[in-house]
Amino acid sequence: MRKSKKTKSKMRRTAVMLTCVLALAMMSSCGRARSKAYNPQNAECSVSAYICTDTHLLSNNLVTDRDEKMVYTTDGRIQKYDYELVDGVVDTVNADKPDYLVITGDLSFNGERDSHLELVKILDKVTDTKVLVIPGNHDLCNISTVAGDATVTPEEFKEIYADYGYSDAMSYDSDSLSYAWKASEDTIFLMLDSTLSKFNFEENRNITGGFISGITYDWIEGILKEAVSKGQHVVSFMHHNLMDHNSSFVAGYTIIKNEYVLELFAKYNITLNFSGHMHIQNISEEEVNGVTIIDVANSSLLAYSDTLGRLKIYDGGYVYDKISIEPFEGFTKASFDNFVGVNYNKSLERYRKAYPDKYEEIAAFVYETNALYFDGDYPQIHEKMKMNRKLLKYVEKNGNGYNKDLFTVPNVSQKMLAREW
Ligand SMILES: [Fe+2]
Repeated sequence: MRKSKKTKSKMRRTAVMLTCVLALAMMSSCGRARSKAYNPQNAECSVSAYICTDTHLLSNNLVTDRDEKMVYTTDGRIQKYDYELVDGVVDTVNADKPDYLVITGDLSFNGERDSHLELVKILDKVTDTKVLVIPGNHDLCNISTVAGDATVTPEEFKEIYADYGYSDAMSYDSDSLSYAWKASEDTIFLMLDSTLSKFNFEENRNITGGFISGITYDWIEGILKEAVSKGQHVVSFMHHNLMDHNSSFVAGYTIIKNEYVLELFAKYNITLNFSGHMHIQNISEEEVNGVTIIDVANSSLLAYSDTLGRLKIYDGGYVYDKISIEPFEGFTKASFDNFVGVNYNKSLERYRKAYPDKYEEIAAFVYETNALYFDGDYPQIHEKMKMNRKLLKYVEKNGNGYNKDLFTVPNVSQKMLAREW
């Protein structure tokens, strides 16, 4: 019973991967630049934070062979190198010494207690940077842990991550694992637990979707009211997406009733949120009651191109970009090939039926473009389209027209952002 549900959700993600490039790709670029671009020039950075998400570490104690882990993933994650990538994040953080390393949930593979403990062991190697975490939908009360390992309750999560936000924050919500962190005199990090996992056991399923309860909403409003009265900037973080990023990732991805949270943020002029969950890199924005609110969805650390976000906060605005973690030479290319290969091989037969003359070429184009799409590298997609004009024309002529949306991807990288507050 449990296994079939798990398989279903994985199949869905695989299917979604394909449709992402072919059937939608209409990102929320419309209306871009409602808030002004920011150039820090000689301004002094007041807070720096590195951000990653969906580390999905699977404890080595729960698998007999590292390669065995690959069987669990169909979504292009390079699960085999989860330890190396998290180690790589720690090495980068220790070299660059940002003020914070924030991990926005799905810390563990499937909520295994041992996976959480292994992650903490690695995070304990961070030297000069404060690490802050929040849970994702995989992390708590998970009924599908690998090797039947015990999962963790919210209380246990707080104990395990006591040093990473759960023992010394400025305020804690009573209805979730949300907390507020004073990042500097001028900046508050609102660390929101958007999961519904505490209901998993009674529902006998892993709840994928996210929600901010009424109690948490009131707690958030209290934090925002005080911050605004002090003239502080607030940056929020949550695992689930604050707003829609594309039409295939709405139900189960964007928090339920997100309009209430957006209106609350607009009321207090809170304009920047970081999320994860989709494993896709994308920046989305909405204008709510005259306020432009941005949700930066970071891609999974384990998905090509295995990136770590860098946020620099200034008095006048902020700058965000991404760097790839490359645990060994040639890793990024191997991760790309892994991402492409997972679905390419499985789909060849289908493509052969649809395009008998050029099926290998088309399948390669589709899945390579898909990898770039998940990475938020739209300029590369445009390059690829330019180089494959003839092939695209062939698809348009012989296919069912679903390729057309590909042309709507804006030629804008989803891996950088600089805005005034
Ligand atoms: Fe995830």
